[in-house]
Amino acid sequence: MSHTTQPVFDPNEVIVFSDAMITQMNEVVNNFPQDKEKSALIRILHIAQAAYGWLSVPVMNKIAEFLKIQPIEVYEVATFYTMFHLQPVGKHVFEVCRTGPCMLVGSDQLIQHIEQRLNIKVGETTSDGMFTLKTAECLGGCGYGPLLQCRNTYHEHLTTEKVDALIEQYRNGEIQ
Ligand code: FES
Repeated sequence: MSHTTQPVFDPNEVIVFSDAMITQMNEVVNNFPQDKEKSALIRILHIAQAAYGWLSVPVMNKIAEFLKIQPIEVYEVATFYTMFHLQPVGKHVFEVCRTGPCMLVGSDQLIQHIEQRLNIKVGETTSDGMFTLKTAECLGGCGYGPLLQCRNTYHEHLTTEKVDALIEQYRNGEIQ
């Protein structure tokens, strides 16, 4: 069984960043000249995503408030980069490159195989909350395709057998 994660959030939710988050965010902002705080946005989005698991509208609005910019400026960046999750995701997020060079060596078939194996479609999360499947544009490892990124690790030269083994390793906790 699978389910599609819906972008559910309470628009009136009051987001309060923890002291630790604020310290981290200020450290990033302080690397930029005054009035150029917006340049810290991508790093701030990473910090917020690490804290909340995904970026809801109230979280993005809070980031806008923190950086003294318009919410739309946060949405524009967060929606452009596939590494930012705009809905809840599973414990492990598989991001499979689908751009030309990877497609030529079988990324389409690999994506289909993962969909069947996990019984979800791209953009969905397994009902046990273990895996989310996403696609990504070129991940910069074109000579190593087909490949997928999970957190900070690239899994390269994938075959259906290798990806089956990978899924089991993540499921069993052999890979964190
Ligand atoms: S095309 Fe897949 S990593 Fe570049």
